[in-house]
Amino acid sequence: MNIAVLKSTANQMVAKGKGILAADESSKTIQKRFDKIGLKSDPDTNLAYRKMLFTTPGIENYLSGVILFDETIKQSIDGILIPEYLSKRGILPGIKVDKGIVDLPAFPGEKITEGLDGLKERLIEYAKLGAKFAKWRAVITIGQNIPTDKCIEENAKRLAKYSLLCQELDIVPIPEPEVLMDGDNTLEICQDATERTLKSLFTKLKEYNVNLEGLILKTNMVISGKKCPVQANAQEVAKETIATFLNVIPKEVPGIVFLSGGQTPDQATENLAKINKIAGSPWQLSYSYGRALQDEALMAWAGKNENVMEAQKAFIERVKKVSQARSQQPSQN
Ligand code: 13P
Repeated sequence: MNIAVLKSTANQMVAKGKGILAADESSKTIQKRFDKIGLKSDPDTNLAYRKMLFTTPGIENYLSGVILFDETIKQSIDGILIPEYLSKRGILPGIKVDKGIVDLPAFPGEKITEGLDGLKERLIEYAKLGAKFAKWRAVITIGQNIPTDKCIEENAKRLAKYSLLCQELDIVPIPEPEVLMDGDNTLEICQDATERTLKSLFTKLKEYNVNLEGLILKTNMVISGKKCPVQANAQEVAKETIATFLNVIPKEVPGIVFLSGGQTPDQATENLAKINKIAGSPWQLSYSYGRALQDEALMAWAGKNENVMEAQKAFIERVKKVSQARSQQPSQN
């Protein structure tokens, strides 16, 4: 484990004005995204779509890294392997390394992430392909009497084990506990679930001796459930998110990047701006959005070659707006 390398990569990932594009949709998830434009996913079509995103002129000014899927890290753009293509443009290639979620046995409604089997071998292969960081997503669901401590703890344990394996190979881990925002719960309930989840994660990371300066946390904002009749505004989301983080996230962590989780691009942009306006955070607060960065570009592209320029225009416009949101300076009060 080379801590200087890990720290340097982690700091680059959250460099000023920059954030990460999550383009690591699994085969199942990319099909869900393509359903919106009536397109069938296959490796060539997935590549055409991602090539449109990655070749957008100027993105290196706003993107420090891109998270890739196993299929994508082995594909090429104009004869150059994608991780190499991105590196040449000054963008760090990263990789999703978990194997997705399954039901947590005996805990109805709750999920656990798989993928520790063979993880070391996969990480060695990805490192050879050029991956500098790796993501593992855990899903926490809000509902009647859930999340349980057991689900939170079991996911935290796996996040810690994966993080340690990454660091041993000088790959920066992005542990991603995501409290889902799909329910009808209030912001207060999301706050409680998020705080419990993050508290457990940092307890386990400490227990496993994970170096906190060599990781980037990816997580959700504290936000109202999508179906909640009372929606908290951006100011409330920002205030509760930062207050929760200050309660449980050690200051050694260099940066926190948000997932968008089903927020609209405008909502994810506005909330991030408000979060950065709050003074007193010891961390870089940036983005690692999937849908919020891609949605408008995907709709403009619509699976057609002749729409590539239009789609790239939509993509860079959104990336720029999100970068500006991330660059907001805290106000005095
Ligand atoms: P969304 O921003 O679309 O939630 O995706 C981020 C991500 O990487 C989820 O794992």
